[in-house]
Amino acid sequence: MKLWGGRFTKETNRLVHNFNESISFDQKFYKQDIAGSIAHVTMLAKQGILSEKDKDAIIEGLKGIRRDLDSGALTITTESEDIHSFVEAELISRIGEAGKRLHTGRSRNDQVALDMRLYVRDEIDELDTLVKGLLTELLSLMEEHLHTYMPGFTHLQKAQPVTLSHHLGAYYEMFRRDRSRLSDIRRRMNYCPLGSGALAGTTYPLDRDYTASLLGFDGPTLNSMDSVSDRDYVIELLAALSMISMHLGRFSEEIIIWNSNEYQFVEMDDSYSTGSSIMPQKKNPDIAELIRGKSGRVYGALMSMLTVMKGIPLAYDKDLQEDKELTFDAIDTVKGCLLLFTGMISTMTFRKDVMEESAKKGFTNATDAADYLVNHGVPFRDAHGIIGQLVLLCIEKKKALDDLSLEEFRSVCPVFDQDIYDAISMKTCVEKRVTTGAPGAEAMKRVIEIYKKELAQ
Ligand code: ARG
Repeated sequence: MKLWGGRFTKETNRLVHNFNESISFDQKFYKQDIAGSIAHVTMLAKQGILSEKDKDAIIEGLKGIRRDLDSGALTITTESEDIHSFVEAELISRIGEAGKRLHTGRSRNDQVALDMRLYVRDEIDELDTLVKGLLTELLSLMEEHLHTYMPGFTHLQKAQPVTLSHHLGAYYEMFRRDRSRLSDIRRRMNYCPLGSGALAGTTYPLDRDYTASLLGFDGPTLNSMDSVSDRDYVIELLAALSMISMHLGRFSEEIIIWNSNEYQFVEMDDSYSTGSSIMPQKKNPDIAELIRGKSGRVYGALMSMLTVMKGIPLAYDKDLQEDKELTFDAIDTVKGCLLLFTGMISTMTFRKDVMEESAKKGFTNATDAADYLVNHGVPFRDAHGIIGQLVLLCIEKKKALDDLSLEEFRSVCPVFDQDIYDAISMKTCVEKRVTTGAPGAEAMKRVIEIYKKELAQ
């Protein structure tokens, strides 16, 4: 059924219908569309705009449609232009006359603005649950690996020793910010556009506060022209999703490196790896690579939506229909990535021995050796030069700093004493770093407590 046949004398061209329709994708929010309609007629009846009898018939009818769509007894066809027309036509065919009163005091412009908001809000809640699941997994790994030493890198060159707990904790912080971004967006967008009509409100005595509260909003939106054309929250969500994708991409990249034959810091579980059709020995980190790669389409959605919005004069324009497919795709993509990523890291084996061995090589304790000299009165710049010479000596002798004899240390600087070995041991290098945010287990434990409290809320 068409909602607007009256002033037309010709059938719509088939290609025009196909180009114009949105039901092939906006059917994704039929639940939200029906929930919005139920709230709308509840309000209409309360205001005396619709009889109680018609309201009851409409709500019964809408609930029946939702049940049948859920069960598959009713299928959506692309004959209707959009999900709004489909539901309304189906309602009229089921309950007759009363169904024709559903759209009183409403336009598809505020209806779709509402549906999209309800859909995005529901998805934000699901995304939040998934990010929380990832944080929970990370936190348990962080507790398990408080003393798993590994090299920390800058420029992908070994820099100073850290712990796996600390390294994972860096990602914890990123995903923690992602969660707070989602909650900011939800708070800012949680106002109800229904009742804005096509663009200029309506002359019916609608109670917009009531509709808003029925649908769990903090109140009605305050400008009807903005309400029907605002998709800022969609852009904000796409930006937040891009950020999540970027974080997952960075983490995936590290896991791919750690899983490489050269590093072997981790081993992917068989259930999360794939093989090669030609090379029998291969076990590939496809899932991590795919997650890294998926960021492209998520960023693409953000750029597309910004571009769609940039030239839209007030109020509603059909361009706005373009908000859906790319947003749905970005949401589904990121949800899939979060789920798979969490599964991947929870089944992965961390090779503590290899990590610790690697941390011992590469002079990751050189800074601590310089600090030792500073603590014995040598100016830092001189200490830096002295340790540089010792590193050269080590490279020549194929040794680590810890392997040098006291004579060798003293051959470059007489200040060294027996206690240098303790000062540059891995344990000292890591565990003495206990300022807030540092890798020492004592510092990490304090941070973990904060995270635990936060997750329990
Ligand atoms: N499918 C449309 C959309 O997604 C629904 C609103 C249509 N409104 C209109 N005036 N043509 O934006």
